[in-house]
Amino acid sequence: MTAVEFLTPAALEDAERCTAHNYHPLPVVITEAEGAWVTDVDGRRYLDFLAGYSALNFGHRNPTLIAAAHAQLDRVTLTSRAFVHDQFAEFCHRLAALCGKDLVLPMNTGAEAVETAIKVARKWGYRVKGVPDGSASIVVAANNFHGRTTTIVSFSTDPEAKNDYGPYTPGFRIVPYGDAEALAAAVDDTTVAVLLEPIQGEAGVLVPPAGYFTAVRGICDDHNVLFIADEIQSGLGRTGRTFAMEHEGVVPDMYVLGKALGGGIVPVSAVAANRAVLGVLKPGEHGSTFGGNPLACAVGIEVVKLLETGEFQKRSAVLGEVLHGGLATLIGKGVVAVRGRGLWAGVDIDPALMTGRQACERLAARGVLAKDTHGSTIRLAPPLVVTEEELHHAIAQFAAILAEARG
Ligand SMILES: Cc1ncc(COP(=O)(O)O)c(C=O)c1O
Repeated sequence: MTAVEFLTPAALEDAERCTAHNYHPLPVVITEAEGAWVTDVDGRRYLDFLAGYSALNFGHRNPTLIAAAHAQLDRVTLTSRAFVHDQFAEFCHRLAALCGKDLVLPMNTGAEAVETAIKVARKWGYRVKGVPDGSASIVVAANNFHGRTTTIVSFSTDPEAKNDYGPYTPGFRIVPYGDAEALAAAVDDTTVAVLLEPIQGEAGVLVPPAGYFTAVRGICDDHNVLFIADEIQSGLGRTGRTFAMEHEGVVPDMYVLGKALGGGIVPVSAVAANRAVLGVLKPGEHGSTFGGNPLACAVGIEVVKLLETGEFQKRSAVLGEVLHGGLATLIGKGVVAVRGRGLWAGVDIDPALMTGRQACERLAARGVLAKDTHGSTIRLAPPLVVTEEELHHAIAQFAAILAEARG
């Protein structure tokens, strides 16, 4: 009898040989995916509880989105932005309506959309608010994650993200997340914007105290400051609402969107704001070769249509109760704390039991993919198409790895 030869080790070695080490992936090599499931090169199936960091809210290869992409591939995929194409207006109209804003500006990655928001806020500050040229300040939160560009990492408080990438872009003031008084103290006449995540995902799915965003909204209104909500990860259904800011009934001046906007097919991001804000940009002042391309818009239109039904937001809210209910039963059994909203959870593992990385490796061995952050926290964010049975199955695997570790 010949021994079974697994393809995974060689595929991992191949990938390792010629790539920069900017990620530390689990030893899983995926070759196919559908809905909430992925299959590796050795035919093992896993429930995907990370979902492309929420880029796959609608599931892997969502049939509606794939059909839109296929149809567009057969027509036109890219035009120079020197011309207009027939998918552009509908995408922008629908997305603006979803956001309740006058205008949108499509880009590609999340970081580009954040950069766009920063540029727009600064320009608005100089041209509308009357801030002296070159002195605009933006207030941000400690433990933020807004992307990886040199300007964005300039206001990161994570040494891994920031160190060795200076000189850093000035003009940012960092305050503790969730502390409205500290934020108010950081605002002055030079402040053009406050930039916050409604829930800090990378930091461990941190939910700020109730009333925080209402207070932030008030501070921004009192001082003529733009409130920018980075909903790249928290938005588009993830927390049980279209936007996580809705949980507090707060409307920001600018939404920054990405990830799920591209349906897990193409990178699509955008900022959305009213004309009084986004209208400061004039032709030639900002752009992107691929931003708002026909393929991106065709997929984006269908993404917005899916969100217009409210079905995914509802699934996330209802199934979120199941997820959080199940995870709560693990507290005291190796889990120290659980946070989050909707189908999004940060789970703190007792460090005496195992690291977050070890927990993810053991979950992967049991067919559930998740990602650790900051040592002992695990982030769970399954596609919103996940079923109740699949949630129970994943929670049972979680309970099993904890029980094994407790001995
Ligand atoms: C809140 C938030 N903002 C911005 C980004 C950056 O997005 P991208 O990786 O597409 O540049 C991320 C990515 O994880 C994010 O979670």
